Amino acid sequence: MSTEDLARLERLAEPEGTALLERLADSDLSGDAALRLGTVLRRDHPADLVADAMAQAQLRHRAAAKFSRAAAMWFTRDGLEQASSEVIARHRAARYAGLGRLADLCCGIGGDLLALADGHDVVGVDRDPVHLWMASRNAAAYDREAVTWCGDVRDADLTGIDGVFVDPARRSSGGRMRTGTSEPPLEWCVELAGRVGAVGVKAAPGIDHDTVPGGWEIEFLALGRELKEAAAWSPALAASRTRATVLDADGTAHVLAGDPDPEDGDTGVAVIEPGTWLLDPNPAVTRAGLVSQLAERTGTSRIDPRIAFLTGDEEPPGTPFARPLRVLDSRPWDQKRLPRLLRDLDVGAVDVRRRGLAGDVDAIARKLRGKGSRRATVVMTRAADRPWGLVCVDP
Ligand SMILES: C[S@@+](CC[C@H](N)C(=O)[O-])C[C@H]1O[C@@H](n2cnc3c(N)ncnc32)[C@H](O)[C@@H]1O
Repeated sequence: MSTEDLARLERLAEPEGTALLERLADSDLSGDAALRLGTVLRRDHPADLVADAMAQAQLRHRAAAKFSRAAAMWFTRDGLEQASSEVIARHRAARYAGLGRLADLCCGIGGDLLALADGHDVVGVDRDPVHLWMASRNAAAYDREAVTWCGDVRDADLTGIDGVFVDPARRSSGGRMRTGTSEPPLEWCVELAGRVGAVGVKAAPGIDHDTVPGGWEIEFLALGRELKEAAAWSPALAASRTRATVLDADGTAHVLAGDPDPEDGDTGVAVIEPGTWLLDPNPAVTRAGLVSQLAERTGTSRIDPRIAFLTGDEEPPGTPFARPLRVLDSRPWDQKRLPRLLRDLDVGAVDVRRRGLAGDVDAIARKLRGKGSRRATVVMTRAADRPWGLVCVDP
């Protein structure tokens, strides 16, 4: 972002811009309504100020999904897309409890900064002056203070810093970067642990377990059933090798932690043919490689050493780490016979859940849609290394 962008923002933060933003806070800013409103506002205000206010107000509306105080915050489109949501940032910041001064490297618009600044002195570092301008105002929107420093994180002075959080950029002006790449690169972030012991690195949820050195922990974070992101923790902040965290909307964290299942699938958990219940683990659990631990916790078995569905003949105990499904039918996968089977089971709409078998789930769901009165989940998977199909319903 340029100094010209910064000058426009500063103008928008002056009384005339602030009044416009307040007026737009509860307005309908979609399609024709936005066009009509723009025409009205341009009668009394300069066109570029109106355009900036409408763009900022739209971002604030969108940001309400991530931030409870979005209406008082500042965003760029990229900064909002990459920002950590309040619930996740608050959860992660708790790891730094007991540490003094922190640095938030690549702080962006301050999604993490505003959580780290709760109870810590924090310096936010970013090379984008617009993001930095927003980060300190966004911390203030949460009644928190943060010092900022504009420049390359490689040049940041970390003297007196007890803990670092770094969230490298995974998109550039040209769009999303290649999977596994970031600026600065993950290796640089990991090496920070040689300078400041306590380091946390935000990473894409696709991160491989072996991209961080021994002693580091990888945490996979889901909001409800949606896998959002991962974080790598240096040994000073790590508590296990891998962790699955499922966060409720109110921030309550449910945690499974331990060693990931071995790749050969030999975990000591029994493998049996699917029974009358199927457990579909939360994606944070599967990414963390903790499916066998979930099996032990829920008294279930695996349907295959390498497939993440669990099964049993008794209703499994309620758990935030998996979705239970009641099995109506279970047999080797045979797509041709399925329409008749679904008809016999009075199934109409179907969702298709696929794990371990190839296929276009949307196309198959469309093809299988029948006239029955029940909604079902058709599971395409492998059981004991054979293609397997199940028809399930919510309990
Ligand atoms: C993923 S965003 C940070 C999001 C932030 N954690 C949040 O929750 O709002 C990455 C930021 O890194 C900054 N950045 C990328 N490379 C940098 C570098 N070498 N030095 C300083 N900042 C950098 C970008 O300007 C961008 O604002």
